[in-house]
Amino acid sequence: MAKFIVTTARKSDLTTENFAEEISKKLGGQFVRREDLSFDALKKIHGAEDILLVKKNSLSVVTSDGELFFHPNTAHLRIKNLRGGEGDRLIDALKISEGAKVLDCTLGLGSDAITESFVAGAAGKVVALEINPLIAEIVRHGLKNFSEDSPHILEAMRRVEVINADCAEFLKNCADNSFDAVYFDPMFRRPIQKSSGLNPIRPLADNRPLTEEIVREACRVAKFRVVMKEHSGSPEFARLGFKILDGGKYSSVAFGAIDNF
Ligand SMILES: C[S@@+](CC[C@H](N)C(=O)[O-])C[C@H]1O[C@@H](n2cnc3c(N)ncnc32)[C@H](O)[C@@H]1O
Repeated sequence: MAKFIVTTARKSDLTTENFAEEISKKLGGQFVRREDLSFDALKKIHGAEDILLVKKNSLSVVTSDGELFFHPNTAHLRIKNLRGGEGDRLIDALKISEGAKVLDCTLGLGSDAITESFVAGAAGKVVALEINPLIAEIVRHGLKNFSEDSPHILEAMRRVEVINADCAEFLKNCADNSFDAVYFDPMFRRPIQKSSGLNPIRPLADNRPLTEEIVREACRVAKFRVVMKEHSGSPEFARLGFKILDGGKYSSVAFGAIDNF
């Protein structure tokens, strides 16, 4: 991972500085007092590529492409639609309902995990993995502390368990059939630039393709279904053995599933 430092906003208090120092120790990054310096100056002085910025109520990462914040993004509208009796392509693909146990192997900014958590409810469980420690930290913090949304969405956020891990390693240590469904939303082989809310995450995200071994392990761990999202027409579905699911005829993304193992 590229070198990063942890700092605060220019105007900050002792509690925030102490919190920033605590996070830097946890993540193994250097804590740097802001001293009224610009991000560019801080990066230059400390030879860092990214900055984890700690403010009173939020965490963000300053990368070469801008500032990455946690926000529920599409989860808000998707949950509203689900409550209104409409479907959701991911939920339909995962075939999950209340009480489901889901392993989301690619947390990213967490919109899919929040939606899964809403459907699984308090009786279910969503464990979400993210390989990049900075993304994992800002999303974990956001899921716990974000407060500007309806109670049912906030409750769904609070229930997501975030783990900073490589899904390849995590899956190896999971028992057979320990989740109902396992989900992958890897960075697309061919990014959809214009429509993507994911642009700010690109400099930090792990871009490696899934391997056959990861998918094999997921099939061992999932009781019912393994699902992958990719761009429509992606050769990844065939390469990894996923059957492309119907729906989203006019969409640039598709879902594939592996069943009945
Ligand atoms: C396309 S984004 C996921 C978006 C997410 N579904 C959402 O709703 O925001 C892919 C994420 O998976 C992460 N990732 C890629 N490979 C991974 C791996 N082997 N283990 C865990 N996370 C991984 C990337 O760093 C990136 O943050």
